[in-house]
Amino acid sequence: MRTYKELPSDAGSNIIGQVTAQMNRLQKRLASVKHTVAIMSGKGGVGKSALTANLATALTLKGSTVGVVDADINGPTLAKMMGVRSATLEYTPAGVKPAMTALGTKLISMDLLLAEDDAPVLWNAHTQKDAFTWRSTMEVGALREFIADTEWGTLDYLLLDLPPGTDRLPNVAELIPDLGGVVVVTIPSEVSQLIVKKSVTMARDILKVPIIGVVENMAFYVCQHCGEEERLFSTDEPLDTAFQQGLLGSVPFDPRLARSGDDGTLYLDEYRDTLASKVLMEVAEKVQAFFEKSP
Ligand SMILES: Nc1ncnc2c1ncn2[C@@H]1O[C@H](COP(=O)(O)OP(=O)(O)OP(=O)(O)O)[C@@H](O)[C@H]1O
Ligand SMILES: [Mg+2]
Repeated sequence: MRTYKELPSDAGSNIIGQVTAQMNRLQKRLASVKHTVAIMSGKGGVGKSALTANLATALTLKGSTVGVVDADINGPTLAKMMGVRSATLEYTPAGVKPAMTALGTKLISMDLLLAEDDAPVLWNAHTQKDAFTWRSTMEVGALREFIADTEWGTLDYLLLDLPPGTDRLPNVAELIPDLGGVVVVTIPSEVSQLIVKKSVTMARDILKVPIIGVVENMAFYVCQHCGEEERLFSTDEPLDTAFQQGLLGSVPFDPRLARSGDDGTLYLDEYRDTLASKVLMEVAEKVQAFFEKSP
């Protein structure tokens, strides 16, 4: 398949000019962002979005200015998880004003642009079959607009919540060549670790993006009756040594964290003294320390 750069004629739409102008806008926006962090995992459903929401809140509670891009264009969940689904986006000459959580964390998500609850994201193509062929190109375009056209202001951190799949990070690396680093999320199951290792290889060896570290999510469960820690997944093996070396924290399964995500309340604000909150705040500190060491 040819790219837009190879088109002999663009029927007067000046597509190269449009994309170049938007890339320039994106670079200008990123100039006022200190650190960009992608939260990723090859595996689906391991808690990337929940972790992004909580990491963003933790950094905000620590006094940083934080923006979040819900880079899951097809299955956006962060507006609900962070309690801003009913926000109305305001358009100004400087760009779209992002939604803001009760604590002041900024968020942009496809969910804020969809009119109906059950409306799927449909790309404007001749048929949806054609749209499927162009999906990756269109997703990169949407992501580029999210970063470039949002009035982020000055940010200490811009977090990007990636959709599942080992092939998602290259899109982000293309848009943000000097991506600050990635936080990798896995659950303890061997199945998850197997897939997540592939995304680590993609980030570290192929894209040469710094790995900030690994979060082991749903690592264990604290029995609400006896207080004992129980494992949730079948494996008795400790986390793979490759992951242990860069471990940022092991977050327990806490039903209140799942409920906060469903209710759109901020778990870290509501439950400051739980074990999961403690670990999440430590993860945020390690992310900060990573950038203090390598500015
Ligand atoms: N530590 C945890 N304790 C309790 N619930 C959790 C925890 N981590 C995640 N969850 C819940 O598990 C579900 C799946 O998490 P989430 O949507 O964040 O996964 P994901 O990796 O982003 O999924 P996808 O691959 O579809 O993007 C959500 O309902 C979330 O609230
Ligand atoms: Mg998600």
